[in-house]
Amino acid sequence: MAVQGSMLVALLWLLVAVPCWAQEPVDSGDREAFLPQSVLSDMEFATVSSYRGPGNNDSRGNKELPILLWWSAGLFPHFPGDTERIDCAHSSCLVTRNRKVQLYRRTSAIIFYGTDFRAYEAPLPRLPHQAWALFHEESPMNNYVLSHAPGIRLFNYTATFRRESDYPLTLQWLPSLEYLLAPPSVSLQEKNRWRQAGLAPVLYMQSHCDVPSDRDRYVRELMKYIEVDSYGKCLNNKPLPEHLEDTGTATGEDRQFMSFVARYKFHLALENGLCPDYMTEKLWRPLHQGCVPVYRGSPSVADWLPNDSSAVLVDDFPSPRELAEHLRALDSDDAEYARLLEYKDPRRVTNGRLLEALKSREWGVNDMSKPNYLNGFECFVCDQENRRLAAERAHRRDPGQHPRPQPRMANNSHMGCPLPAPGYGIVEDVPPDDGWLQMWPQDYWQSLDQAQGLNSLIQHNESDPGLLWHHIQELAVKRAGGH
Ligand SMILES: *[C@@H]1O[C@H](CO)[C@@H](O)[C@H](O)[C@H]1NC(C)=O
Ligand SMILES: *[C@@H]1O[C@H](CO)[C@@H](O)[C@H](O)[C@H]1NC(C)=O
Ligand SMILES: *[C@@H]1O[C@H](CO)[C@@H](O)[C@H](O)[C@H]1NC(C)=O
Ligand SMILES: *[C@@H]1O[C@H](CO)[C@@H](O)[C@H](O)[C@H]1NC(C)=O
Ligand SMILES: *[C@@H]1O[C@H](CO)[C@@H](O)[C@H](O)[C@H]1NC(C)=O
Repeated sequence: MAVQGSMLVALLWLLVAVPCWAQEPVDSGDREAFLPQSVLSDMEFATVSSYRGPGNNDSRGNKELPILLWWSAGLFPHFPGDTERIDCAHSSCLVTRNRKVQLYRRTSAIIFYGTDFRAYEAPLPRLPHQAWALFHEESPMNNYVLSHAPGIRLFNYTATFRRESDYPLTLQWLPSLEYLLAPPSVSLQEKNRWRQAGLAPVLYMQSHCDVPSDRDRYVRELMKYIEVDSYGKCLNNKPLPEHLEDTGTATGEDRQFMSFVARYKFHLALENGLCPDYMTEKLWRPLHQGCVPVYRGSPSVADWLPNDSSAVLVDDFPSPRELAEHLRALDSDDAEYARLLEYKDPRRVTNGRLLEALKSREWGVNDMSKPNYLNGFECFVCDQENRRLAAERAHRRDPGQHPRPQPRMANNSHMGCPLPAPGYGIVEDVPPDDGWLQMWPQDYWQSLDQAQGLNSLIQHNESDPGLLWHHIQELAVKRAGGH
């Protein structure tokens, strides 16, 4: 997470802050408090720094703005302090990580970080006037609750890696087009010399071994048919040169490490979880370096590749043996290998979807001149909520003229990652004491129980999320009784 970056952005914002004292009467609907009194006292509001963003002419004072509560306080993208006024493209909000405002009438939305979202800690009772917003850019394995329809439908706004989400973060690991176009760090001639000197054609570098995609099971099979140098903790068969650290699980780009791995023609680029549009640096980094990713992760990855022949897709091959044959053929055919790197010529980057997404996204990756996506999503929610509140006010004033705004909620297309399957072979052939088998399919189905349990808590207007286990049990008993 680029939390430090967001703090810097917040500081920059503070420096250009201009106070805003304008007041505007609010509709009575906004003033009625769910609790007898605001738990954010007037004094706390007075100390909230106030500034105007570019282009926004929302003239309301802090006391009149809707509140967005960051339930995952650790991700609160402002510094210092717990509460901040944000001025977005169209409107303003107060954002806070102070959970005391949970039940307050003015708190119109709660923002969650998917990895931290736990059904047994959810803010209950769920108030009908509050929208839930989900930010989840990380792996599906971090929280399978969100991959089930009853889990994702709890949210009204999403920012996930999927293109269908409301605020998509699909290319979050790709800094820019220029990153892809960088000339190969090691020429093909040099790579061939390294091959002669004994390097394998294929690199594997993983230290996180027990993952839902079960990638090691595939690689273990692949290794029977082609040489793979494996330096990480998983399937290790070679020591790393002493001067290099194992950065197999890190995302940093240490120069020495990068030039070491760039000697390899092919990089096994296997995500830890399989889900549409879940693509990480495992894909983009070899493309940047001019190595060919041998990729498995998002089944629709071809939609985002610079050119349809710039990666080798594991799923295009019926078996590891046939993939190995293909890689060996490419290894001994320089012309064919070079074709895979043609995208380094900008004229060969012909994927309109990729170019358009890079051009139109408002957030930056390692780019201080653009907002980061935490601030971007927060503003997306702020503007949407102000629009919704205005539509509801208009409806209350004149129901004949203004219909009630339609509720919106996320669905499986915003996350919806499939049941983990073995990396190689079929689940029936996996021995019962297999570590992967004991962990991931169970985790997936237990997550469904939790999603259903939380729905039940909400339906029953419970205020204690600790009753989750009780509700899960009741649901199980009901299901058993139905048979
Ligand atoms: C600012 O106010 C003007 C006039 O009230 C309005 O036309 C314009 O759309 C507003 N701008 C934004 C960004 O809301
Ligand atoms: C990929 O590049 C090749 C060679 O330059 C070109 O012929 C082909 O049209 C490109 N394909 C796509 C889908 O961009
Ligand atoms: C938010 O989603 C819930 C379902 O999870 C729904 O009941 C509610 O009406 C939605 N709220 C808005 C403002 O769309
Ligand atoms: C799921 O949500 C998207 C918008 O986010 C919408 O376009 C789509 O129709 C929805 N699908 C279903 C089955 O409701
Ligand atoms: C839900 O519970 C809260 C208090 O916990 C109560 O104020 C509210 O009226 C309840 N809502 C419904 C629909 O029963």
